[in-house]
Amino acid sequence: MNYTQIFNAAPAVEALAPGRVNLLGEHTDYNDGFVLPTAIPQHTTVAIGFSPDDRHHFYSAELEERVDFDPAGASPEGFARYIDGCIRVLAAAGHKIPPLNIFVTSSVPIGSGLSSSAALEVATLRGLRSLLHLPLDDVEIAQLGQQAEIQYAGVSCGILDQMASSLADTDHMLFLDTRTLDRQILPFPPGAEIVVIDSGVARSLATSGYNQRRAECEAAADQLGVKALRDITDPQQAEPLPEPLRQRARHVITENNRVLKALEGITAAAFGKLMNDSHASLRDDYEVSVPALDTLVDILQTTPDVLGARLTGAGFGGACVALVTEGRGEAIAQSTLDQYNRTGNHGHILVS
Ligand code: GLA
Repeated sequence: MNYTQIFNAAPAVEALAPGRVNLLGEHTDYNDGFVLPTAIPQHTTVAIGFSPDDRHHFYSAELEERVDFDPAGASPEGFARYIDGCIRVLAAAGHKIPPLNIFVTSSVPIGSGLSSSAALEVATLRGLRSLLHLPLDDVEIAQLGQQAEIQYAGVSCGILDQMASSLADTDHMLFLDTRTLDRQILPFPPGAEIVVIDSGVARSLATSGYNQRRAECEAAADQLGVKALRDITDPQQAEPLPEPLRQRARHVITENNRVLKALEGITAAAFGKLMNDSHASLRDDYEVSVPALDTLVDILQTTPDVLGARLTGAGFGGACVALVTEGRGEAIAQSTLDQYNRTGNHGHILVS
């Protein structure tokens, strides 16, 4: 299916945006902290044209779902909510958006922690920028996408996903300071490549403990008398906090330190060790892992030529990322998957 088959006309513009995998810096973005994602080859494409009437018409090729609605009425459910959210945040920012036909197709898996929603938001906003000649730069696109997610998808997310989708490429890591939005494009650790495997356990951010974790971090920062946990660099300072705030704060503080360590031009082996430590911290202190992710990470971490592995994204299901010796990705991904699926799980390879 394509735009023309659905809407009986050619689209006026097309735009795409990638998913992302975060290598280090998990649950740090809403604490004003540091993140280190890269883009993945999977991406979302939107084709946009003007609606022939006064309604929006959206179609998702993967879901085979069509949604037609009045732009002035209630926001729709499902995939259309993300697109409509982007349109509404643009309208709130003073841009006039006419009724539209939008066709979406995507290779970013949903619910794997690879930012399918950010890819949809950034692709939509890029398409609208080009269709309506909106004066928006790539950072503003990311910020608008984040607002759409917060206001219309109900997830109090940080800006990691949208910045990665808007600014990262697949050949580099993007270091981002989420407070200042200062960023650096960096090479991957030398002699290493990335493997991403989906655990097969889907998660939904809005219904998971994501918003609760964020609230715990804000409470911890409040009790420590800082604007955000980013302002603390010594994990000892979290010790006086009551549980679970102490554990949550310790994860964020140590995770920020790991990202900064990774900027020091360290070896791939040292980078991998940071990823292993990140997983342990997410599992034990932040409590966002699940048994399937731990199983997958255990298999990876005990496989030769794997330098490090961790869950990636918000957790509660989704995918794991590993750093492996260059040239070994495909073989490691396949042997890991075979071993993992023998434990009764249904994983699959996303990047190798
Ligand atoms: C989700 C959110 C991001 C970030 C990660 C965890 O992907 O959308 O803003 O908080 O979880 O690092």
